[in-house]
Amino acid sequence: MRTVTKDNITDVFMGYFGEDTDPRLREVMQSLASHLHAFAKEVNLTHAEWQKGIEFLEFAGRISDEHRHEFVLLSDVLGLSSLVDMVNSVPEGTSSSVLGPFHISGAPPIEFGADMKGEYEGQVLLACGRVTDPDGNPIEGAEIDIWQTAPNGLYSSQDPDQDIYSFHGIQTTGADGRYGFTTVKPVSYTVPTDGPVGEILRATGRHPWRPSHLHYIIKAPGFRPLVTEIFPDDDPYLDEDTVFGVRSDLVMKYVECQPGDFPDGYVLSGKVNDTFLRADFDLKLVPEG
Ligand code: BEZ
Ligand code: FE
Repeated sequence: MRTVTKDNITDVFMGYFGEDTDPRLREVMQSLASHLHAFAKEVNLTHAEWQKGIEFLEFAGRISDEHRHEFVLLSDVLGLSSLVDMVNSVPEGTSSSVLGPFHISGAPPIEFGADMKGEYEGQVLLACGRVTDPDGNPIEGAEIDIWQTAPNGLYSSQDPDQDIYSFHGIQTTGADGRYGFTTVKPVSYTVPTDGPVGEILRATGRHPWRPSHLHYIIKAPGFRPLVTEIFPDDDPYLDEDTVFGVRSDLVMKYVECQPGDFPDGYVLSGKVNDTFLRADFDLKLVPEG
């Protein structure tokens, strides 16, 4: 094809693939190119706009490192991460939700009833529930990787004043499938806005807030791993999460409890002198395959 035109460039692109190309790679790349070409034609993309887009991506690359994942954040605020979650989720299980850029591996094991609050100020939250299969049978040996921000709204990897594993822990369920730990009530917080993604949010009149949440990754032999979050029903940002992570089945209710109701088997640094919150939430995993 000698003469490439705006009408045939997509077909020409398709013809450039080698015969041995992996079929799935071919499908994904061809669809991506068709949508990119259609987008450029639809908006009559100018050179200046194309240049700006390239500079944006270069800035995202420069600001990214092993702790800062600006491309993940871009995917999150565009709704792409959530769309991928929804396309791949299975209705029999608890919905998945965004991983986000702040998960760190190697969190320490914590016992049932452990305390993640430490000396931090904030209302005590007791988070508990069961890990089950779709029929409600308990799953033994499920590992729950838990993480959240400190009361200042920062994850440990963003905050030099925190230990790297503060508000992180991995709990393994026993025969009854139960998990449970104490922590501080999570707070709403903003996604990082000091990079190119922040510029886009400002330019398009969007706020950077996420509703408060706890993050979980649950893994159990024979079951699909689940990456998810749970959100209290009274958070002001519940219906306007800037990364589109809320699903109706991930919304829970805090129950206010009196100090005397603090159950046996849980620990907390210091005494529970004040009311505390309790959130019961079951996590349903779907068998693999
Ligand atoms: C988070 O919940 O940790 C998160 C998710 C998406 C973007 C930024 C943060
Ligand atoms: Fe988060």
